[in-house]
Amino acid sequence: MTTKPEPSESENRYFITDSHAELARLVEQERVISKASGGRLPEHTDQAAFVAPFQRALDATCGPGGWVLEMARAYPHLQVMGFDIDEQMIEYANTQARVGKLENASFQVMNALDPLDYPDNFFDLVNARYLSVIQRPAWPRVVQELYRITKPGGFIRLTEIEDDSVTTSPAFERMMVIFLQACRIGDIGFSPTGRSLGLPPRLPYFLRQAGCINIQKYAPIVDWSAGTEAHATVAQDLKIFFRLLQPFMIGVGVATEEELEQLHRDMEIELRAEDFCAFWTFFTVWGQKPR
Ligand SMILES: C[S@@+](CC[C@H](N)C(=O)[O-])C[C@H]1O[C@@H](n2cnc3c(N)ncnc32)[C@H](O)[C@@H]1O
Repeated sequence: MTTKPEPSESENRYFITDSHAELARLVEQERVISKASGGRLPEHTDQAAFVAPFQRALDATCGPGGWVLEMARAYPHLQVMGFDIDEQMIEYANTQARVGKLENASFQVMNALDPLDYPDNFFDLVNARYLSVIQRPAWPRVVQELYRITKPGGFIRLTEIEDDSVTTSPAFERMMVIFLQACRIGDIGFSPTGRSLGLPPRLPYFLRQAGCINIQKYAPIVDWSAGTEAHATVAQDLKIFFRLLQPFMIGVGVATEEELEQLHRDMEIELRAEDFCAFWTFFTVWGQKPR
């Protein structure tokens, strides 16, 4: 007898399946990216003033919960929540909140592709970074669902990338091309050619379609060239990232294991070169639900 999968189970295909290793990677990545890109809400010169009138904030697809924990620590008046489909991420995040005595931080297991278990008009700020893990056709309804749970006058804030850096390393660049091709085949992002993810320019469109107004943009650059503070940590993060992506890239047929292993070896050397240069750009777009 076969068991019929839950509707959401059949749809969910996060491209990294080793969630243990992904958790460890994301914890490290959050530290370096948050610092190098200017903090939790770097687009606001006075973050405290922006957050002061808020009661509740949410981070959708929160991973191990770094954004929520930081927000809860910085703004004790704020109830900050996060959800992720991965039970391990949520267990880790809840443990961090408990150990850090952050009673205003909480996390739940939830699938962004399902109706979310929050009331209408509930959050003053709904944040999500790397919602790109959601497959292409689901985007309009996922953003609409984020809009439903946002209070009138509240904000939806989305941060995405076009790629995981532009660098001087030929091996890194080749790896990036392979990954972006895999994304296109795997229904991730919107690029018709796989040249990039093709997602950031669509964010204002999705927010507008959902009903948002006052749409704004901000794009910090993380410089992780040789000699910068971020260099070693970002290089390590992305080497692990590509390693964890191997099953996905091989699975969709864009590369062989041998090719990826060789690129990994070349990357090891090229990322350590004295003249190595790399920019990683994050595109943040936010909009407001009309009052
Ligand atoms: C690249 S990580 C980003 C985590 C976090 N937003 C950050 O910026 O560090 C993507 C996260 O999305 C989660 N995820 C993937 N598909 C999901 C879905 N359908 N619903 C909820 N979370 C999902 C994964 O478990 C993973 O933790």
